[in-house]
Amino acid sequence: MSAILSEPVLRWPLNVDAVMQSTYATGDDQLDRLYQKAKAQQWNADDYDWSYELNPDNPLDMPDGTLLIFGSPLWQKMDEPARAEVRHHFHAWTLSQILHGEQGAMLCAIKLAQGEEHLSARLCACAQAFDEARHIEVYSRLVNDKLRVTYPMSSSLKRLLEDTITSRQLDITNLGMQVLVEGIALSIFQNIVAYSRDSFIKEVVTRIQRDEARHFAVGRVTLRRLYNGELSAAEMREREEFTCEGIHVLYEHLCADDIWEQLGQNRKECGELVRNSKMANALRRNLFRRLVPSLKDMGLLNGKVVTQLEKMDMLDYAELPLRVEA
Ligand SMILES: [Fe+2]
Ligand SMILES: [Fe+2]
Repeated sequence: MSAILSEPVLRWPLNVDAVMQSTYATGDDQLDRLYQKAKAQQWNADDYDWSYELNPDNPLDMPDGTLLIFGSPLWQKMDEPARAEVRHHFHAWTLSQILHGEQGAMLCAIKLAQGEEHLSARLCACAQAFDEARHIEVYSRLVNDKLRVTYPMSSSLKRLLEDTITSRQLDITNLGMQVLVEGIALSIFQNIVAYSRDSFIKEVVTRIQRDEARHFAVGRVTLRRLYNGELSAAEMREREEFTCEGIHVLYEHLCADDIWEQLGQNRKECGELVRNSKMANALRRNLFRRLVPSLKDMGLLNGKVVTQLEKMDMLDYAELPLRVEA
């Protein structure tokens, strides 16, 4: 296995009080339903046949049109072995980032389980923590045992995860992880399920996608109430700024800047190629299609968020129907 760069262990404060309650009432219909669903939908990664081998030339077996540099002059002049290397590294980078995100999600779920006031929300968070542990298990097997190339967390993702995990406002942890990061991850999983021709990958990712849709719904349901009247105008502005920053950082993250040097290419030139490519921008932009309608539903489509989405040509997604899980 080749680890591109080894990273030291990161230590971040969770900044949350452990809330010990004296009453045990649940009674939140939407969250209770999601918790019941979480219990009924438990599954075991060991049930899959992990002796199955992926195609090293295209591990996720995705069409080349899903690659950021597909169709560019750089792609045109590559021979088949070079293209296979691009596929392998792009898939390894994508799954490595998902794996880091899964670890971040596990930490956030643990934090929410400690600090949420309502028992229904805490039970959902406990169930989620175990889902995320299973996702770590699956993606770690895929990255380390199957693709055998690992990438460290991108600097953009690291920044967002640190702000999300360490926030003293529990709802910002919820917003950063359950809505922003999970929203993008959900669209990536949907793409893999829709385009991959590998039945093993399709099946495993479908299972994970079902769990993530539940987590995304828990975040949306919880925050929707809070952001529709419970916070002051100044507090809402802080959430809108966090959302704008998160969208910007995730859009940058999706350029996959760290792969080019590993492929013998110039990092800066490839970074510009991706940022100036209509097709690559459409691929990146499309990953926000689940997130934007949810921001609208939660009451976060105001002020700066609208301006930013308009500038990034993503505001139209607000008109897409919301996919409701609960
Ligand atoms: Fe997950
Ligand atoms: Fe999740």
